[in-house]
Amino acid sequence: MTAKIISGTETAKAIREELKAEVEELKAKHNVVPGLVTILVGEDPASQSYVAAKNKTAHALGIHSEQITLPADTGEKELLDLVEKYNSDPKIHGILVQLPLPKHIDEGKVLFAIDPDKDVDGFHPVNVGKMMVGEQCFLPCTPHGVLELIQRSGTETSGAEVVVVGRSNIVGKPVANLMLQKREGGNATVTLCHTRTKDMDFHTKRADILIVAAGVPNMIKADQVKEGVVVIDVGVNRIGMSDSGKAILAGDVDFESVKEKAAAITPVPGGVGPMTITMLMKNTVQSARQHAGLA
Ligand code: GUN
Repeated sequence: MTAKIISGTETAKAIREELKAEVEELKAKHNVVPGLVTILVGEDPASQSYVAAKNKTAHALGIHSEQITLPADTGEKELLDLVEKYNSDPKIHGILVQLPLPKHIDEGKVLFAIDPDKDVDGFHPVNVGKMMVGEQCFLPCTPHGVLELIQRSGTETSGAEVVVVGRSNIVGKPVANLMLQKREGGNATVTLCHTRTKDMDFHTKRADILIVAAGVPNMIKADQVKEGVVVIDVGVNRIGMSDSGKAILAGDVDFESVKEKAAAITPVPGGVGPMTITMLMKNTVQSARQHAGLA
C-alpha cells in the first residue's frame, strides 16, 4: 500500500480563502477588523520563523497584526505589563505569547495573565477547562488542525483506536482529549504514550490513527505501525541547513518507510504546520466576532 498524502497546505489554503472572505465581510458590513498581537521573547530561530509566518498569514487575510519582539533578558513583570496592555486594547482580539519562554519567566503565570476572551492559542486554564468539558471555547491551534485534517481526509474516528505519542500541554494532552469527546470527529478510544511508556511498539502497532508529537526526528519506523494506519505527524525538527541557508525539516515519523504501509499520512513540511497557523487565524476572527457581539 502507498499512502494517500494528507496535504495540510491544500486544506489550509481552502480554509484561509473562506477566512479572507469572512474578514472582508466583517469589515464591509460591521466595520470590524480582527486584530492579533504576537509577542516573542528572545531569538530562538524556530520561534522567530513561526512568529513571522503567523504575522505574514494574518496580513494576507486582512487581519491587523502587531509583532512584538523583546530581548531574551526581558523581565517577567515587563512581559506581564505588556500582556495587560493588550488585554485592554480594543484593536486587539487575539494575544499570542510564543512558547517556550526564557527560563527566568514563569510560563504559567504569563499564560494565566492573558484575558481568556483573547486567548486565541487556547492555552489559558479557563479555555483548557472548557475544552475538557466540551464547552464552546478557543481550541488550541495544533490539536484543532490535527482534528480538521483527520476529518477532512474522510477518516472514521468513532470507535477507532487512536494512539497519541507525546504528552505536551500544547499538543499531546489536548489532542487526546479532543479525540475522545462525545461528538463528530471524536468518539475514539484513546491511548496516550510518553517517555515512560513501557512498550511503545505494542501501542503504536494497534493504532488505526497514530498522532505523533514527540519532537524526535524520524522516531516512528514502518515496523512500528500496522498496515492501513492513518498517520498524523506533528513533529517539526530542524535536522540541518541547506546550501541556500534554509532549515532542513524532518517529522517525528520516518515518512519514506511509513508511507509504504499507511493508508494516509501527513508530510513534513506541508502537513500539520500550515493548519496550526490557519486555526490561529480562525480563532482570531472568531474572537473579533465575539467582541463585536456578532457571535
Ligand atoms: N510554540 C510552539 N507551538 C506554539 C503554539 O501553538 N503557540 C505558542 N504560543 N507557542 C508555541
